[in-house]
Amino acid sequence: MFKNDLKKIEQRVLKAIKAAKSETDLEQVRLQHLSRHGELAVLLKQLKDLPPAEKKSAGQAANAAKEGIETALQQKGLSFQMSAGVTDGGVDVTMPGHSFLTGNLHPSTIIQQELEDICRALGFRVLEGPDIESEYYNFTALNIPADHPARDTQDTFWLKKEGQVLKTHTSAMQVRALEKYGAPLRAVFPGRCFRYEATDASHDTTFYQLEGLMVDKNVSITHLIGVMKELLRAVFGKDTKVRQRPGFFSFVEPGFELDISCFICDGEGCSVCKRTGWVELLPCGLVHPEVIKAGGLDPKVWSGFAFGLGLTRLVMMKYGIDDIRLLQGGDLRFLKQFG
Ligand code: DAH
Repeated sequence: MFKNDLKKIEQRVLKAIKAAKSETDLEQVRLQHLSRHGELAVLLKQLKDLPPAEKKSAGQAANAAKEGIETALQQKGLSFQMSAGVTDGGVDVTMPGHSFLTGNLHPSTIIQQELEDICRALGFRVLEGPDIESEYYNFTALNIPADHPARDTQDTFWLKKEGQVLKTHTSAMQVRALEKYGAPLRAVFPGRCFRYEATDASHDTTFYQLEGLMVDKNVSITHLIGVMKELLRAVFGKDTKVRQRPGFFSFVEPGFELDISCFICDGEGCSVCKRTGWVELLPCGLVHPEVIKAGGLDPKVWSGFAFGLGLTRLVMMKYGIDDIRLLQGGDLRFLKQFG
């Protein structure tokens, strides 16, 4: 009797499991047939009253039936989960995966790292400075007079806090580095610069420079030109056409402008080189005695050279980018090309 009843119940339950059309149906089957008050549980309670001769095999049959039902339940449940994605928006494990976007370095970062490597090989250490700078380091320590137009609110982002600016050039690190490390010193300072000016294809309010400073005994123009040429050769992978003009910057004496032939138009004239065929890339000069003094050193003992490489200009030249505004524009279609 017991085994017969067991068989009937087992078949009923297996049939119900098979017929279930959803996980809710399946749960219903579980509640109806397998709960503590379900028919299986009620039957199993009779086990203990069976004559000893039947008890053992009845118990084994009951266990086998229970296992069979459990397995059927599990498999049915799994089949619902597998197809859930297709039917009700869950995860369809049979779908091919999504490829996800990976980031890549910004072109300015790529060139900056390249330059840092070149400069390290030439014996320069790499230092970084703050974006928010004091009027002192940005102007005064660099021998830039109080009435100099660069200090004008038309060129400089002045902060509300008295005497604080967004650094307008990486030269601001010169005196900081001299104060901290003294001489002899060979260092480059890559960094972000800010100017309050109208934007066009070759001007943006934010751009990057890489400043170089070497202070030692008897540093001359020969050292300056030698290092500049080596730097440009390493950057462009070949000798680059350059021209040298006198340039005035109050923190160097004498000062120069090193221009390179425009890479965008090959010297023909375009919007980037303002139709001149030349791009200002490397202003430089011998460090002014006042700057050496501001750095806490004796200008009778120490001399040096400095340069302010237009990192953003260089990026544009190397990649043939004809509008500076693309660099800070955040357009992924543009940025992804450098991955
Ligand atoms: N700081 C200058 C600027 O942004 C560039 C510059 C000129 C840097 C001459 C130098 C230098 O180190 O020697 O316009």
